[in-house]
Amino acid sequence: MSIRRNLDHISARLPLWHLHWYVTLDSTQLEAQRLIDEGCLDHTAIVSQEQTAGMGRLGRRWHSESGQGLYLSAILRLELPPAHLPGLTLALGLAAKRTIEETAELDCDLRWPNDVLVAGRKVCGILTQMHNGAVIAGIGINLNQRDFPLEIDDIATSLDREGASNFSREDLLVRLLDYIEEYTQLYCRDGRDIVYRAFRMNSTYVQGKRVIVEQDGRSLRGVTDGLDADGFLILRAETGERITILAGGVRPVI
Ligand code: BTN
Repeated sequence: MSIRRNLDHISARLPLWHLHWYVTLDSTQLEAQRLIDEGCLDHTAIVSQEQTAGMGRLGRRWHSESGQGLYLSAILRLELPPAHLPGLTLALGLAAKRTIEETAELDCDLRWPNDVLVAGRKVCGILTQMHNGAVIAGIGINLNQRDFPLEIDDIATSLDREGASNFSREDLLVRLLDYIEEYTQLYCRDGRDIVYRAFRMNSTYVQGKRVIVEQDGRSLRGVTDGLDADGFLILRAETGERITILAGGVRPVI
């Protein structure tokens, strides 16, 4: 059943959350910013069937055709110093991975900092932003796409393309919001190290992976060597240097 027709039922399953559902939006992130500016409640969640200006990390676009993906922004009023925001993305990745694995029954990998992969291709991306003191956790999950634009067709996938179509979208959304709450609480209450440890255990990218990283216009090659105290990735570069990766795009060396 579609999420829209079932909205009352979904809201009843998510007593903590204030759900806003749209047919189309520019971006659920932008709508979240507008709602924060209007003073919305903590745990406001925005879902849109389509986004005309879906936003990805590093200024990229997030393809958001109608009905092809889950496009969600969750507003969290957390007591979080801005320096702890990057690490929160790792907690959200764990929430998304667990949601997909339990709902679509597909094994997932996490690629630092914000990608969920199935069979090595990206199925879900996370964009964590701060606006007027509130966190906006933006999550996009590719559901039905059979084809992607040419430039990402060999690096992106969807749950359907990986053979998972027989699951409830309602369950996916409910589980995702439940786990967002669980993992952000874990991060804020029980400490960042617990989340970093869980991330390490759920990601083949954190330790010993040969990668190329694009950072500050440089292409760095090396082997990953763990996370630092703020959740940033450490790269042992071919030059022997240990480099902290703050925001680059990480690709495997094939
Ligand atoms: C990335 O991997 O680059 C992050 C992608 C984040 C996409 C989601 S879809 C819901 C929310 N609204 C947006 O405009 N972006 C995020």
